[in-house]
Amino acid sequence: MISRQTIDRILDTARIEEVVGDYVTLKKRGGNYLGLCPFHNEKSPSFTVTPSKGIYKCFGCGVAGNAVGFLMAHDQLTYPDALRQLAMRYQIEVEEDHRAGDDPRFQAEKSQRDRLWDLMTFAHQYYQKMLWDHPRGVAVGLSYFRERGLTDESIRHYGLGYSLEESDALARMASDSGFTTEELELAGLCSTHESRGLYDRFRGRVLFPIYHLNGKVLGFGGRTLKTDRKEAKYINSPETPLYRKSETLFGLHQARKAMTQNNHAYLVEGYMDVISLYQAGVPHVVASSGTALTQEQARLLKRFVSEVTLIYDGDSAGIKAALRGIDLLLENELNLRVVALPPNEDPDSLAQRMQGSDLTEWLKSNSQDFMDFQQNLLLKEAGQDPILRSQALQVVAASIACVRDPLLQATYVQRLAQDAGLPAQAVQEAVTRHTHQRAKQSLEQRSAQRDGHSPAEIPADRPSLPEAAHQAPTQGLNDIPQESEILRILVQSGTMEGLDGRPMVEFLADTLHELQWDHPACGQLLEECVHRWQTDRRLPDIKELVQHPDPSIASLTSSWLDKDHRVSPNWDRMHDIPVRDPSENLSREFEEAFHRLLHKKVLQLHRTKIQELKESPEPEALLHQIRELKETETMLAKKLGMVITH
Ligand code: CTP
Ligand code: MN
Repeated sequence: MISRQTIDRILDTARIEEVVGDYVTLKKRGGNYLGLCPFHNEKSPSFTVTPSKGIYKCFGCGVAGNAVGFLMAHDQLTYPDALRQLAMRYQIEVEEDHRAGDDPRFQAEKSQRDRLWDLMTFAHQYYQKMLWDHPRGVAVGLSYFRERGLTDESIRHYGLGYSLEESDALARMASDSGFTTEELELAGLCSTHESRGLYDRFRGRVLFPIYHLNGKVLGFGGRTLKTDRKEAKYINSPETPLYRKSETLFGLHQARKAMTQNNHAYLVEGYMDVISLYQAGVPHVVASSGTALTQEQARLLKRFVSEVTLIYDGDSAGIKAALRGIDLLLENELNLRVVALPPNEDPDSLAQRMQGSDLTEWLKSNSQDFMDFQQNLLLKEAGQDPILRSQALQVVAASIACVRDPLLQATYVQRLAQDAGLPAQAVQEAVTRHTHQRAKQSLEQRSAQRDGHSPAEIPADRPSLPEAAHQAPTQGLNDIPQESEILRILVQSGTMEGLDGRPMVEFLADTLHELQWDHPACGQLLEECVHRWQTDRRLPDIKELVQHPDPSIASLTSSWLDKDHRVSPNWDRMHDIPVRDPSENLSREFEEAFHRLLHKKVLQLHRTKIQELKESPEPEALLHQIRELKETETMLAKKLGMVITH
């Protein structure tokens, strides 16, 4: 249990813009920062970070919170783990306090996910130890990496490891440390064989750990050291509760900073390609690791950069992979260049021949715009055959249809027309047809999703905004506008006069103390306000609340961050909207918010009673209550000016 002092120190020290900035590219806007929300799919930034308050808020999907809440939501960490991660980042010593044991937030057993994270860390450390310390690891694994030209620094930077040939070396070590068979299987590290029992997935292989953005290991790729062709060259972790291949990019954790700084990334195919390029002085490089690039991976890239250069092997498989990736990257509004390597060359071999500025210069001058790449490749191949030519042009037109910026798209249309010697209108028509086809496909996909098909069956688009907001970890808090509004007014103006002439906080203390809140944070916040009022004659400050140790309260209160900075200061004048005097309207606002909350609660109660009525043996009394509730509901609705439909 982390002591209260440590928690306070962490909350005081953590800089929200730094914590969020590790994951989201932020641009300064006045005193705030703006970026693309990592919790829902958006094209224009509505994710705001406010350093002065220490909070973030997305105006698109409503998520909000402080630095701890951000890590909890983004990396799916528990409260104590998020605190520990921040403590590590800011080098704060974590004091444990054993009396904090009655705090329910700490009581929950470590979740299964947390156990799996721990197990992966354990395995990673073990495999590294085998590589560096075990005689077999040094003789076989380490020397393999060194023979391939990797420096010790690179080997450590990517956390490479080695698994012994024994069938259950890891299984035994992990069991001794308290991990169960079930956990080892779930993490994809071991399997159980009917006669042989528990055995390791990776045996006698050098290992490439695959990291989550948060720097923890999710899975491994293991390369064989044997040259016989019978064995698979690579064995990878299966899909596990932690590792989803389609959402992961190898090397992203290491490349992230350099990517943001350059606003550019190189995308390659293999583990070795990434590490060799890094070592040759190109740190902003990631790999899709043997899968065709996925929608999620393209989105992930977009979060960090706006320009991507594909470097694919010169062989036909490499070229095919490059062609497949192009549309996805364009669709995600990434500017795209392609380096087609000569046959028999891959990024790894290139990086062995050339380093530093020689390499970067070579890559720059040998990269071409995606359209030049496609044309050179496809049109050349087609020669003068009209049917092959038109097929090739269709491929290019389909890619141009993925370009979302209309001006850029028009430019490509013109260029293709010129290069192919066709009227621009013909090319435009082909592009438009592809645009319509794509729109139709994506509509069909969405409705298929709504009809209950598993999203895995279809190359799914990300859920649309309301669904995404619903999945966001603060969903409970986003769905309670009535509760949120009354509490916001309470915190901001609760000492002022309310409906009955007493301070609002006293009025609410009396009227709401037995309310069934839809989220426990609401009741707790009201209680804290009332308590502070009774002891100090004041209310908690919003600045304290957004850094509240209860992440739900921090998140709820952060969501009140006003939107004013998004509106130009001239907005009111330009649109001739009268600027309201807040104090003049306060009591009306309060009354309305109060009635809205009551209305919601009465409706809820009404629904419950009707449900009870169906099962009740004595409906008389219930019927009476229901009638009364309905009357109250109608009265409130009228007050609120709602349209009543019966
Ligand atoms: N890959 C895989 N399984 C295989 C082959 C390849 O998962 N059987 C993935 C790996 O992520 C690999 C990438 O595809 O890194 C590219 O494959 P390849 O070019 O064959 O491997 P390299 O990484 O170049 O490995 P090496 O240079 O050691 O041969
Ligand atoms: Mn290779």
